Amino acid sequence: MFLRDTWYAVAWDSEIKHAPFARTVCGEPIVLYRQMNGAISCFEDCCPHRLLPLSMGYLQGEHLVCKYHGLEFNECGQCVWMPGQEGVRKDFNVGTYPVAEKHRFVWVWIGDPRLAAESKIPDLHWCSDPNWIFEGSTYHMKCDYLLLVDNLMDLSHETYVHPTSIGQREIVEAPIKATSDDFTVTLTRWMYGIDPPPFWSANLRSGEKCDRWQICQFSLPANVMIDVGVALAGTGAPEGDRSKGVTGIVVNLMTPETETSTWYHWGMARNFQTEDRGLTFRIRDGQAAVFAEDLVVLDAQQQSILQRPGRELRNLKIDAGGVHARRIIERELARQSQTTPA
Ligand code: FES
Ligand SMILES: [Fe+2]
Repeated sequence: MFLRDTWYAVAWDSEIKHAPFARTVCGEPIVLYRQMNGAISCFEDCCPHRLLPLSMGYLQGEHLVCKYHGLEFNECGQCVWMPGQEGVRKDFNVGTYPVAEKHRFVWVWIGDPRLAAESKIPDLHWCSDPNWIFEGSTYHMKCDYLLLVDNLMDLSHETYVHPTSIGQREIVEAPIKATSDDFTVTLTRWMYGIDPPPFWSANLRSGEKCDRWQICQFSLPANVMIDVGVALAGTGAPEGDRSKGVTGIVVNLMTPETETSTWYHWGMARNFQTEDRGLTFRIRDGQAAVFAEDLVVLDAQQQSILQRPGRELRNLKIDAGGVHARRIIERELARQSQTTPA
């Protein structure tokens, strides 16, 4: 079961072109395309005639044409042409989903469309603010999105999964502080007077001792923003002065595809050296390599879980963030099952 009354990032805005784009979200296959005026249409990916995926079809002007017998749907999903019939039957419209474009992503609302206010799209202002640079990509993960939430809310794994880039011993040694309210969980870790790991010393342009922070925030449905960075040791970063440091926001948007697969949109926003486009893509490529290491681990973890039905995941102190986040998700799922008719 998935949280349905919420916006999910389904693609980067640049991915949706004037052509059918298929994606499955919360188990529901959908098809999107961009109209000539730039607006986006989003339909159930299923022709009401013989149920062929409409994403196999093609666009004719603003209309999506089914590949099998040519039923034609306008940008609102209304059937406007059918073969071998006089006129058009009114009960052949295709289901539509609310869709919106914001902060470089395309968002779809899978649940009750009456609840789909654009104001509910998560605040990712770093991704669209001209004072920040944001770049990233998408990975298709063969794992439950909850495993990704666990992973991102427990960065102690960096020491073991990412030892050559961002991992270091101090991460597992530094204490963490977990706080939560009804809808978010925040996990804070500070490491004082440590050697910057390779990624950060390159961006700080210094190998001197630094104070390093990782502040992970989970919010519904499955978004994790991680405020990360380093500053020269003792220059006041823990008290809020980051002027002798570099900051990035690691953006992680998990969109469940099925119970055991996830569209994972990730990227990093930064407000330092913003004019350096080469750095933008070096960071993106570096992040791609780091997250590819997570992909290997999480795919294997999911396989192992599937091979052992009934076997439980166990928690250590380091899992506090994921445990809180899962609790919030479970509570919302319970609320959803009470309010949604079967
Ligand atoms: S299946 Fe789409 S037109 Fe027949
Ligand atoms: Fe990781």
